[in-house]
Amino acid sequence: MSLAVTAAVADPDLLFFPWDTPLEEWPEDIIVALPRGISRHIVRFVSINGVIHAVKEIEEHFAKREYQLLLELTALGIPSVEATAVVSGRVDKQGEALPAALITKHLEFSLPYRAVFSSTPRPDTAIRLLDALTLLFVRLHSVGFSWNDCSLSNTLFRRDAGAFAAYLVDAETGDIHPKLSDGQRAYDIDTAVLNVTGELMDLQAGGRLPDAVDPIPVGLSLRARYERLWGVLNTPVLIDNNNRTPLDQHIRRLNSMGFDVAEIRMASLDDGKQLVNITAKVVDAGHHARRLIRLTGLDVEENQARRLLNDLDGYRATTAPTQSEEIVAHRWVMEVFEPIVMAVPQELRRKLEPAEIFHEVLEHRWFMAEKQGRQIDIEEAVAAYIRDVLSNKPDEAAVFGSANSSDDTIEMEAIKFD
Ligand SMILES: Nc1ncnc2c1ncn2[C@@H]1O[C@H](COP(=O)(O)OP(=O)(O)OP(=O)(O)O)[C@@H](O)[C@H]1O
Ligand SMILES: [Mg+2]
Repeated sequence: MSLAVTAAVADPDLLFFPWDTPLEEWPEDIIVALPRGISRHIVRFVSINGVIHAVKEIEEHFAKREYQLLLELTALGIPSVEATAVVSGRVDKQGEALPAALITKHLEFSLPYRAVFSSTPRPDTAIRLLDALTLLFVRLHSVGFSWNDCSLSNTLFRRDAGAFAAYLVDAETGDIHPKLSDGQRAYDIDTAVLNVTGELMDLQAGGRLPDAVDPIPVGLSLRARYERLWGVLNTPVLIDNNNRTPLDQHIRRLNSMGFDVAEIRMASLDDGKQLVNITAKVVDAGHHARRLIRLTGLDVEENQARRLLNDLDGYRATTAPTQSEEIVAHRWVMEVFEPIVMAVPQELRRKLEPAEIFHEVLEHRWFMAEKQGRQIDIEEAVAAYIRDVLSNKPDEAAVFGSANSSDDTIEMEAIKFD
């Protein structure tokens, strides 16, 4: 038997690892110490030409299968670890066969879930983790991949510029089909719920789960999260005559489930309608405020920022989808944001932050569109907001502060429609 390397591009460096030694006994000086999840197989990290890789010792048939699946998932744009090579034909010094090795690129800045919970996580962290896993799961199912062993251990988590993303790390048990049936999806969810609940219970037993998180309802909630997200992401939105209301509704639904818009794609249909597809992402606290200030210089609260960015993203998708977001953001400030703020009479403008005015006008437009069941132009919404909301508000309800306080110190009451 001779050593064989299966790879798209086989790095000669690969041949010089001690393949005649079981992975467990590899000398420490070639091993890179990094956190790793629990697994049946032995996994260790090494550096190949300056790039850290994971080596998993596993039977040749399974190594090759997983290698192939990982290549296919990468080609389908699924967040997963990238396959580098399979090394087979290993024998030890006594001539006994050793298992093959699957080599994948180490996913930089990624953490196994136990490492995420090793410091004191906020209750929110467990939920964000689950949201990220749900999103990965929905994406896998959308491309026909049944995981058959979805768990927190078979996932890696990464925080990147405010986004919180889950990557598939263990594809061994999976299969790719042209399309998954509802039954196949249901079976996969059952396994995931069972695995994740067990993992959360383990964390709790080890004192690593925040007290506010109860493993059973949180684990079970994975099913509902999945179903809702599957429904929203697999229902394309039809837009007629540039009526943005259905798109706004769709984005709100996504937001209410804890997800954000990652990308909006719009295609024109023959009958003049537009078909919009949305992809989602999970973000960290404070992400929207940071993104808005970077793009527009507007420094606002997180929820306001999310609303403003949804408008900006919708504007970009419908006016200039290929333009860079910095350029579109500048134009959005000039053409959308400022005209609305400027339409509000000077005396009212001084009492409310411009971003809050904009936010409230959008809320009012939403409220009007829901009530009247039609698209409301922004000009119409501004006029109605000034007329029906600002002017009709009795002074004492609209304005906090004593009668003799100066204009600069009084604040408008927040207006809520939900
Ligand atoms: N490319 C990689 N980048 C970062 N970490 C990795 C990578 N590959 C493996 N790991 C780490 O090694 C752990 C075990 O890998 P994996 O789940 O593939 O092993 P396994 O033995 O097949 O697992 P199981 O027991 O679920 O069958 C992962 O949880 C992860 O922490
Ligand atoms: Mg695993």
